[in-house]
This record gives sequence, structure tokens and C-alpha cells, in this order.
Amino acid sequence: MTYASFRSIGAYVPSQIRNNDWFIQRMDTSDEWITKRTGIKERRIAAVDELCSDLGVKASNIAIQRAGIQKGDIDLIICATISPDFFCMPSTACIIGDKLGLNGVMAFDISAACTGFVYALSIAKAFIESGMKKNVLIIGAEKLSSIVDYTDRTTCMLFGDGAGAAIISATNNKDEAIVDVSCSADGAYGDFLLTPGIESEKHCMQMKGNETFKVAVKTLTSDVHKIMEKNNYKNSDIDLFIPHQANYRIIKAVGDALEFEESQKVLTVDKYGNTSSASIPMAINECYENGRLKSGSTMLLDAFGGGLTWGSAIAKFAGK
Ligand SMILES: CC(C)(COP(=O)(O)OP(=O)(O)OC[C@H]1O[C@@H](n2cnc3c(N)ncnc32)[C@H](O)[C@@H]1OP(=O)(O)O)[C@@H](O)C(=O)NCCC(=O)NCCS
Repeated sequence: MTYASFRSIGAYVPSQIRNNDWFIQRMDTSDEWITKRTGIKERRIAAVDELCSDLGVKASNIAIQRAGIQKGDIDLIICATISPDFFCMPSTACIIGDKLGLNGVMAFDISAACTGFVYALSIAKAFIESGMKKNVLIIGAEKLSSIVDYTDRTTCMLFGDGAGAAIISATNNKDEAIVDVSCSADGAYGDFLLTPGIESEKHCMQMKGNETFKVAVKTLTSDVHKIMEKNNYKNSDIDLFIPHQANYRIIKAVGDALEFEESQKVLTVDKYGNTSSASIPMAINECYENGRLKSGSTMLLDAFGGGLTWGSAIAKFAGK
């Protein structure tokens, strides 16, 4: 039996830091309001000439190097993004493939907003378990600053730029296997988070913040209950609970409802804001770099986003 294993992680954030003062200087808001409602203190903003694919390439190079594989071993590239280099085509995955020198390797984007990385993980797992692919590069990359309306004070302070990437590889060792990935969607709530059109100014994100908040808390919580019950997992079987980093209040409400210990919860939203599909791999990378994520650690991923889409995963970290 062939299993899919979570082999490595990498991330990249642009150097420019945008703190809450930037917003205070431009609109009627305050550090107190932003901090209390979102927990966000700063986010990273890509340079004008730094594209979504550039962020993805930098994260990918780190993930490939840490996986201990050659670039040529990669046989599928999946990029989750809602802020691609180009509208429709070519896909950002194709551009990343070219920039990595992986010409000829199957590559495609998926659009599942903030759940994108979990969706990509589920697709990679299926390709590997079916025997079709052996080493899949999955990427969550976002230049959200290009689709944020900086005149809308109710949403603009939430988002930032960044990228995370992982190598998912075939293994015969069941102990290394990704345990389960579960993904769902409900288009009936499509107007909660949307980009209305491609014309100038209509390409920016619009959000029903209050409604989104309530559905996010409910869905993120019930989704974890389902995957834990299905796989017979208890809280004590989880080393790291890594939710999508949308908002401190959402993470706190979900973490409390699920009764995880502080030592299990992962929180990075204060430093990076909401980076959509990049938020979970960036958070995994942070845990890897600060030593919280070790070989054999069990991660519980939990995501929610526009679509609406949501998904969760239980995965062992099979890296070194
Ligand atoms: C966006 C969000 C922070 C707003 O917080 P909220 O508590 O819902 O705030 P409301 O929209 O009800 O607005 C409350 C008040 O603050 C005001 N306000 C809105 N933005 C403000 C800002 N940046 N600074 C100061 N005041 C602001 C509103 O005008 C309103 O004033 P009023 O009471 O006089 O009408 C919150 O709804 C949220 O986090 N939603 C989820 C967003 C999210 O994570 N989306 C991505 C999911 S993947």
C-alpha cells in the first residue's frame, strides 16, 4: 500500500512590514480597535515588482531543499491562490514550475480561498495514493495586497502577503502517513467573501465580516469534531492545532470550544494578518523553525474561507 507523507515545509514573507500605524494615518481607525477585533499588529506587503509566483518560488525552494529530494523528483505542482500573477491564465503553478526549472511537469492552480492549502493537500494525497504521482509540491501563495480595497476600513487591515510550500511524498511506511484530509464547500454562502469582477476596482475583496465570523467559528469547530471522531483521535493525540490564521477572536473561540491546551495552539496572525491559502503552511513553517514541530509530530489543520469552503486534516510530520 502506498501512503502520502508530509515530507517538508518552507515559507517566505516579503521584507516590508505594515503595522497598524499605517492604517491609522490613512483612515478613521485605531490600534486599539484593530487589536481588539482582530489581534493583528502587523502584516507583510510584497514589493510592486514581487509577484505571487515569486513568493511561491522562494517558499518552494526551501521546502524542496528540506525534503532532501532533487527538483527533478517533483512530478506535480499545485498552487492554491486567490491572488494569481495573471487573471485566468497562465496559472501561477505553471509560472512557479518554469521559475523552478520544472518545465514539463503537470501544474495547476486551485481556487478555494483560505482553505486552499488543505484542498491542495487532499489532492496531493489522492494523486499519491492512487500511484499516479510520487512527489507533489503544494504551495499556498498570496499577494493579497493586490486585491485589497484600501479605502474599505472594515476589511483592509485584515490581510497580508506571503507564501508557504510543502513536499508531499509517497511512502510505504504507514506510521508516516497523512491520516486523513476532509474538504467541503457550500456555494449558497458565496456572497460572504467575494471579488465581484475583473474590471478596475471590482477585482477587490468584499466581505460580510460579521456573518463570516459567526459561520467561521461554527464550521471550524464542527469540522474538527467530525475528523477527530471519524479517525478515533482525542485531543491528547494532537501535538499542534494549526487553524487558518484569520483573526485572533475566531482562533480563540474555536480553540476554547475544542478545549485545546495553550501549548497545542498555534497563533501567528498578530505578525502576518490573514494570508489566505498561505496562512496554514506559514504557521507550520514557523513551528518547524522554532522547534515546536518535530519529526513524528501530529498536526491538526483547520481551515475556512471564501466559497464558502472549509477543510481539516490530521497529518504526521514526516520531515527531519
Ligand atoms: C471584520 C471584523 C473584524 C469586524 O468586527 P465586528 O466586531 O464584526 O465589527 P462590525 O462590522 O460589527 O463594526 C463595529 C463597529 O466598528 C466600526 N468599524 C469598522 N471597521 C473599523 C475600523 N477599521 N476601525 C474602527 N472602527 C471600525 C463599524 O463602523 C461599527 O461601528 P458602529 O457600531 O458605529 O456601526 C469581524 O467581523 C471579523 O473579524 N470578521 C471575520 C473576518 C474574517 O476573518 N474573514 C476571513 C475569513 S477566512
